[in-house]
Amino acid sequence: MTQEPPTTTEGPLLEVTDLQKYFPVKSSGVIRRTIGQVQAVDGVTFSIGAGQSLGLVGESGCGKTTTGRVITRLYDPTAGSMKFEGHEIGHLSKKEMHPYRRDIQLIFQDPYSSLNPRHTVGSIVGTPLLVHNAVPKNQVVDRVQGLLETVGLNPEHFNRYPSEFSGGQRQRIGIARALALNPKLIVADEPVSALDVSIQAQVINLLQDLQQKFGIAFLFIAHDLAIVRHFCPEVAVMYLGKIVEIGDRSSIYETPHHPYTQALLSAAPDVKQAVVGGRRERIRLEGDVPSPVNPPSGCRFRTRCWKAQAICAEQEPPLLEVGGRQVACHFAEPLQVVSSLVAESESEAPSLQDLSESGDAPVQVS
Ligand SMILES: Nc1ncnc2c1ncn2[C@@H]1O[C@H](COP(=O)(O)OP(=O)(O)O)[C@@H](O)[C@H]1O
Ligand code: SF4
Ligand SMILES: [Mg+2]
Repeated sequence: MTQEPPTTTEGPLLEVTDLQKYFPVKSSGVIRRTIGQVQAVDGVTFSIGAGQSLGLVGESGCGKTTTGRVITRLYDPTAGSMKFEGHEIGHLSKKEMHPYRRDIQLIFQDPYSSLNPRHTVGSIVGTPLLVHNAVPKNQVVDRVQGLLETVGLNPEHFNRYPSEFSGGQRQRIGIARALALNPKLIVADEPVSALDVSIQAQVINLLQDLQQKFGIAFLFIAHDLAIVRHFCPEVAVMYLGKIVEIGDRSSIYETPHHPYTQALLSAAPDVKQAVVGGRRERIRLEGDVPSPVNPPSGCRFRTRCWKAQAICAEQEPPLLEVGGRQVACHFAEPLQVVSSLVAESESEAPSLQDLSESGDAPVQVS
């Protein structure tokens, strides 16, 4: 059997501090010089306790996938610290990282490209067991069949190829592969966004069952706020490489303080109405996320923010404790969100069924 990583019982399972990931931009031509940096992740700090789930939300291009890939060490961090059970893993060599790979697994967004079409399901799910010498060779088939059963697939289908399965079934194969080594942390990168809406709830419910059954911690990445709220008691909102607001589910969804969180919530289908002050207006987020090669000075959200003032271009707002959560805005203030679903208690997150049945009335600010 392979060497177990050292364990510690105190402190968070994963502690990420000032994490940074830049990708070099190269010039064209024979001599390819570095002419800039894609600041994909730029100073991200959060922690996840054992068995806990943190949701990471933001529009496409905000750096969510890059964050997940650095944590699983598919990418090396440019700077910052990543501690797993108290041990710094950000700069471990491939060999030193090997024992931790058992504990930290990734579920990919696209179940079509993430499974090798030339390998059988048995080989896909069984490979991690063999690579990590996790079970004796003569027990691999039994273990694979057990895993297929756990994720709701027919254990007899271990000799079939990915092309013989639907999208939802393929994602279950990806989940079985992620579970094979009994991980302590799973980074689930938009695990249902490539699936039909009718299948999404089934896969989310499976992940939630597995989390409860095996006590696995999740970094759950999504652009869909409804899905994150269903799954995660803690939520971090990311914009252009930075976390702009992070807190517990009720703080984020009931009284979002950052204009970007407020705008994202206004686009969520379950939110009926948001009320603050005496005026009513619709929050509409204009334009796209700016380029992370040359992000706006000061607050990165300022080019799309309706509250921006001169200071926003001059000073980057620090992430500070305001109203029971952390928020990075010079003018942070609550927006009271009134929704048919927000009223539910924190312990009883709305079901996806509820979410899909709710209307899509515009958010209003009064
Ligand atoms: N390998 C890479 N090389 C260069 N730029 C990248 C690479 N991967 C991602 N990026 C850029 O980093 C930014 C963040 O991307 P990503 O992490 O995929 O965001 P998200 O998952 O939130 O959509 C984007 O501008 C993207 O184009
Ligand atoms: S700091 Fe300024 S630009 Fe940034 S979110 Fe707050 S008000 Fe908007
Ligand atoms: Mg992504």
